[in-house]
Amino acid sequence: MLQRTHLDSPLPASPSTPRARSGVLATIGDTPMVRLERLWAPRRWALHAKIEGTNPGGSAKDRAALRIIEDALADGRLRPGGMVVESSSGNMGLGLSVVCASYGIPFTCIVDPHTTPQNLALMRAYGTTVEVVTTEDPVVKSYLPTRLARVRQILDANPGAFWPNQYENQSGVAAHYHGTAPEIARQLGRFPDWLFVAVGTCATIQGTARWFKDQGAHTRIVGVDSVGSVVLGGQAARRKIPGIGSAQKSPILDLGLVDHAVQVEEDEAIAWCRRLAVGEAILAGGSSGCVLAAIDRMAAHFQDGDVVVGLLPDRGSRYLELIFEDGADGDGRR
Ligand SMILES: Cc1ncc(COP(=O)(O)O)c(C=O)c1O
Repeated sequence: MLQRTHLDSPLPASPSTPRARSGVLATIGDTPMVRLERLWAPRRWALHAKIEGTNPGGSAKDRAALRIIEDALADGRLRPGGMVVESSSGNMGLGLSVVCASYGIPFTCIVDPHTTPQNLALMRAYGTTVEVVTTEDPVVKSYLPTRLARVRQILDANPGAFWPNQYENQSGVAAHYHGTAPEIARQLGRFPDWLFVAVGTCATIQGTARWFKDQGAHTRIVGVDSVGSVVLGGQAARRKIPGIGSAQKSPILDLGLVDHAVQVEEDEAIAWCRRLAVGEAILAGGSSGCVLAAIDRMAAHFQDGDVVVGLLPDRGSRYLELIFEDGADGDGRR
């Protein structure tokens, strides 16, 4: 399904007049940037964390979901009376739930038995129709083809249905190009020397990296992935941390924009999530732990005075069992 590349397609422009948003949508983006002081011994570089978990749906996906829906409404791919259908088990499902609820657009999310009961309940709380596929594709032994087949069925049966297709949608990239990246520069009052970004669909890294390069910034972009994902190279293997990584390469990522790639062991990421919670009182998800582990790995390359930014994609309260509870992997040390 991810055969085409969209690198040549134009990035949706920044709206000429910023939309005056009302309600909860006005709280998407402009996330806090926090200086972290307690995770490493005294050092001569500064670390700032951009906390995407404060978005109303709990992750950076709210930004992409908002831009995807508003672009589709603006160019008529989504019309009044239409509906949205997407396959997602996690943050994009929640982001779309928030945005669709706010716009009053019916949203059907196709999930599978791996989706956590909490995410199912959260999506339903926003009025989303959640449909669980129960059969795996017998060839690739995954629910993904079954989920996408169900999306196509719904699209065929409903001419007014819109599929965001987050893995290929340039509006997601635009959200980070016009939003996240300039926010970082504005909040710091300068370009960072290093930017660490976790990769999934690659909307975040593609959008932010391209903006910094387009500004002529010297910022070095570090792509962060988990071992077992193939987005930045490596062999596919079972992974347990949601949100980061993929079993397929991304058609929207221009690898030429990524200066360094770091792959992190999941248990190492979990240990960093625990240190972040105990040391800085920031409860963040597993991909944020991957970002911190990658910063630790690259720290030997930082110069005195360097300003380092780590993008923390989501909040940790949905992963208490997986990451924070006793018996979870990771050592919990400070
Ligand atoms: C948990 C998590 N990890 C990583 C990412 C980065 O994802 P992407 O590459 O799809 O922009 C996100 C995006 O919101 C996320 O929610």
